[in-house]
Amino acid sequence: MLQAQAPGLPPATPGEITPVPVREGIELVVNGERFWHTGDPLMPLLWYLRDVLRLTGTKVGGAHGEGGYDLVLVDGKAVSAIKRPMAELAGARVTTVEGLANPDGSLHPLQQAFIDEDAIGCGYCTPGWLIAGVDLLTRKPKPTDEDIDQLPNRCRCGCQTRVRRAIKRAAGVPA
Ligand code: FES
Repeated sequence: MLQAQAPGLPPATPGEITPVPVREGIELVVNGERFWHTGDPLMPLLWYLRDVLRLTGTKVGGAHGEGGYDLVLVDGKAVSAIKRPMAELAGARVTTVEGLANPDGSLHPLQQAFIDEDAIGCGYCTPGWLIAGVDLLTRKPKPTDEDIDQLPNRCRCGCQTRVRRAIKRAAGVPA
């Protein structure tokens, strides 16, 4: 099938395939490493992370990010990766759950607190909770139960109470 006439190119003669101009690309940093996306600018960040970079820690949730399973940090703020197209990420710094630990391999204090409080069931929701929790602790270093309950995350294994304890443990506030 013939492509539509691309802007800036001479008209195609009938039967010829008109090449689509090369995309400029989108440069972004993921977990401290620089990447250059030249694919579809409307690709959701979630697909880029999981299918292109093979960073599968960020999970698939609802089509609109319900449940917080697909949260990542973009420039330090928790955002839904399914709702964020690559076109909006030029120059952004993205951190996924794979990038939370320190370069020497030691865990982020919130990751350690999840282990200490046994706040992990099947684990499907855990990356989203960790990202939301890191964002919350940055905004509010001493969060209350209400602050934690307002996070968009859901756990189908019933770990909410232990997650709450883990976030408070990482914050150094009594559970
Ligand atoms: S641990 Fe299974 S959904 Fe939360």
